[in-house]
Amino acid sequence: MNPWFETVAEAQRRAKKRLPKSVYGALIAGSERGQTIEDNQKAFTELGFAPHVAGPIGERDQSTTVLGQQLSMPVLISPTGVQAVHPDGEVAVARAAAARGIAMGLSSFASKPIEEVVAANPATFFQLYWCGGKDEILQRMARAKAAGAVGLILTLDWSFSHGRDWGSPVIPEKLDLRTMLKFAPQTLARPRWLATYVRSGRIPDLTAPNMTVGDGPAPGFFGAYGEWMGTSAPDWADVRWVCAQWDGPVLLKGVMRVDDALRAVDAGVAAISVSNHGGNNLDGTPAAIRALPVLADAVGSQIEVLLDGGVRRGSDVVKAVALGARAVLIGRAYLWGLAANGQAGVENVLDILRGGIDSALLGLRKTRITDLDRSDVVVPAGFELALGVPETAGAAGHSGDRTEAAPA
Ligand SMILES: Cc1cc2nc3c(=O)[nH]c(=O)nc-3n(C[C@H](O)[C@H](O)[C@H](O)COP(=O)(O)O)c2cc1C
Repeated sequence: MNPWFETVAEAQRRAKKRLPKSVYGALIAGSERGQTIEDNQKAFTELGFAPHVAGPIGERDQSTTVLGQQLSMPVLISPTGVQAVHPDGEVAVARAAAARGIAMGLSSFASKPIEEVVAANPATFFQLYWCGGKDEILQRMARAKAAGAVGLILTLDWSFSHGRDWGSPVIPEKLDLRTMLKFAPQTLARPRWLATYVRSGRIPDLTAPNMTVGDGPAPGFFGAYGEWMGTSAPDWADVRWVCAQWDGPVLLKGVMRVDDALRAVDAGVAAISVSNHGGNNLDGTPAAIRALPVLADAVGSQIEVLLDGGVRRGSDVVKAVALGARAVLIGRAYLWGLAANGQAGVENVLDILRGGIDSALLGLRKTRITDLDRSDVVVPAGFELALGVPETAGAAGHSGDRTEAAPA
């Protein structure tokens, strides 16, 4: 079979065929009835384009910057944890991102140490969860800084919801011989995935090496998750504290409301990602793209506004940028590529996005990605949601036909 694939949907089909059922299920993720995960993709299908038929156009330029990093296109790798998808895991993803000139986000729950990932891609952002005491959080930040991370992604949207109507995958505590035998029926049914691991001489790593504290061993995924569950949720003073401790840019990931975005600016973040954790957090949260335009209006002149959730093609990137995002982060799209064909599969996904962005720019007769504006996109009435608009912020530049979904 030709290892090249032409769409992200095809990469997902190949990932499904290739991965053991539980690994594929862990990537599908989502929560509860899957309302949010579904809306993240559906919302992009509700948006259209308003193309031009002629006009001046030469070589298209997709380059931009995010938090001081030069990117060849407005796409970053979103941090995702537990990648038993491929033996090279996050290092393969980081290499692919570097080869295509984009930045890497590395999860706290990643399977590879940050030092190896920064070596593969110097434009790496470390993602931090509020997990453990402040001393432990500081140690993890200091390690990321020493390794050369160019920024911090602070992810705070999580609600520890563990049920899914379609069933949750069984993830073993650790992979020893006994567990391997227990999982044998599904892994043996996926010989190509198994062969990749056999060739690498390793077994899937279920530890979280970036959660290590002091000289201790890397905790197992469930140990780290348990520590996270046992930590009280942070408040805005804690966000301010993280920004003060980290000598560099902090991106707050998971913002959906205007009041939170304004507080984030006040706490000192340099960027937000409008996001609902790819539909893995509080089910019923609307698609991130619906909240983007109002948030971009509210804080886009003070900090960088990014988006993640549901991006599967270049035209999705263009829609998000036209509606006010400086760039997008992608999650499942690159995981499908990694599962389908390792580093080359992630590069394949990035090339698909680049090609899609280029053809949308051509259709819209826009030379630079930064030339896009809202007139390029057809937005149906009621699409944009103004969540959590404080009474006094009503005049913060909001306009147009917007639905007050949850006024503060
Ligand atoms: C399997 C999986 C694991 C994830 N793990 C993390 C994580 O460790 N940290 C984090 O900030 N976000 C995590 N996310 C969320 C992604 O960073 C991102 O917000 C989401 O995948 C975007 O949606 P998309 O998959 O539709 O692109 C995870 C998402 C998936 C699918």
